Amino acid sequence: MTNRPSYYITTAIDYVNGRPHLGHAYEKVLTDVLARYQRRQGADVFFLTGVDEHGMKVQQSAAKQGRQPQEFCDEMAGHFRALYDRLNISYDDFVRTTQPRHKEVVQKILQQLFDAGEIYSADYEGYYSTRLEQFLTEKDRVDGKFPESFGEVVFLQEKNYFFKLSQYQGWLLEFYQNHPDFIYPSFRTKEVLGALQEPIPDLCISRPAARLSWGIPLPFDSEQVTYVWFDALVNYLSVLGYERGQAGGRWPAVHVIGKDILVPPHAIYWPAMLKAIGVAQPRQLVVHGWWTQNKEKMSKSVGNVVDPLELIDLYGVDAFRYFVMREMALGYDADFSEEQFKLRYQSELGNTLGNLVNRSVSMIHRYRGGVVPSPMEPGTEAGEGFRRDVLESIRVYRENMDKLQLHVGIMELWKGLMRVNQFVDETAPFKMAKDEARRAELDHVLHELAAALELFAQELQVLLPGTALKMCEQLGGGLQSSISQELHWPESVAGRHLGQAQVLFPRLEETPSPKPA
Ligand code: ME8
Ligand code: MG
Repeated sequence: MTNRPSYYITTAIDYVNGRPHLGHAYEKVLTDVLARYQRRQGADVFFLTGVDEHGMKVQQSAAKQGRQPQEFCDEMAGHFRALYDRLNISYDDFVRTTQPRHKEVVQKILQQLFDAGEIYSADYEGYYSTRLEQFLTEKDRVDGKFPESFGEVVFLQEKNYFFKLSQYQGWLLEFYQNHPDFIYPSFRTKEVLGALQEPIPDLCISRPAARLSWGIPLPFDSEQVTYVWFDALVNYLSVLGYERGQAGGRWPAVHVIGKDILVPPHAIYWPAMLKAIGVAQPRQLVVHGWWTQNKEKMSKSVGNVVDPLELIDLYGVDAFRYFVMREMALGYDADFSEEQFKLRYQSELGNTLGNLVNRSVSMIHRYRGGVVPSPMEPGTEAGEGFRRDVLESIRVYRENMDKLQLHVGIMELWKGLMRVNQFVDETAPFKMAKDEARRAELDHVLHELAAALELFAQELQVLLPGTALKMCEQLGGGLQSSISQELHWPESVAGRHLGQAQVLFPRLEETPSPKPA
């Protein structure tokens, strides 16, 4: 038995019709940071990520390459998983919607809703966007035409099954009025309430198998397969196990998603589906913005994607994690620029953090044979302000992390690191080292440096797990998996034997500017 609070957190599951790009990688890093942060706070975390494998796009992508969809999915799922492993994403489970455990739960839920009369069949005709895999209405026309963004639009006539979504409109409105903090950032609740001002139609949940074969068959009509959302959203439940109305013990979840899949899927379909099957609502929806290039959404269809692997190869995993978390204010868009990446790498990672660790560890080796000396008695020196400032930066970092103001939290942590740099500059230990009369003073400064770095290393394991580990090795200690309630100055660093100084963020080689042709 554990009395630790349970914390179930999920990412969106990515479509496997193309390779993962910066947007996918960002979302997984973001969720990883939240998961690691909660683990350190002592929560019993379950972190789920995975891939979304069914649907027309995947069927078409596989066919284009003359391959079987399953084999195609196996390969693509491998690319996503390999990237997330490389990024140090600490997921506890990786779901694939082609797994039997998932398909079984989707079918159980469909059968439950069909038995309850929540699903009915009807003939349907209308315009359909293959790019969005979505039926269109007359309202989608602009100046009489369907905009380019819908891709190819075709007219379809077919039998489909529908979920009685419309009857949840009143309940949904009330739910959002009563839960203004269900969506973070809360300003997005307005979009949901806006969408709920118009009557919402019932949700088409199936396609004829003749047209879409790559999907989960309806348990009550084998000529039809489920379509996109009724399949994909259920992943959040299927990994926990599900019996009629009974979600697995870790439910409810915090869902981390991009703003493009908030309205309607996560904010309207999913709450209504959960309500209909008798399962509690998610804990929260955390909605991030888009990475853009020249202000346009980065996407496979547009073809303007940044490959995370290229950045990781050039700058390292932790540099990637740092950049995406520091650059993007959670909830808003950010424009990607490699120049900006390099700037942050050189100044914030290379100088403020990397050089600080390197020179501190080197000085303890040079002046004290690699053993951390003891500090002066408290109150006998001018360093109390230093301790207070460092602890304060960590306190404010945590406060912002708790509020999901992650980039502000990171900025605060870096303010603290800058304060440590300033401490080195002010106390000038290299001058003290030349003066035997200042021996105790130098001991003190070196101790305070090691202690401050110890504090930062422990905090940084959330954002920069690899770097934090390297810092701990150099500091002759280990990572602590959970935090103590009280934030206090480390007392146990004196007497530690340091490891070798390592370069954390190597200097970037000057890339020669392209010669004029
Ligand atoms: O929507 N910037 O899959 P997906 C930031 N399978 N995030 C981005 C982004 C960008 N430029 N592009 C995509 C799907 N994302 C469904 C989800 S969940 C039950 C099913 C984010 O591969 C996007 O917002 O199109 C979403 O959260 C995730 O990547 C997967 O997008
Ligand atoms: Mg998408």
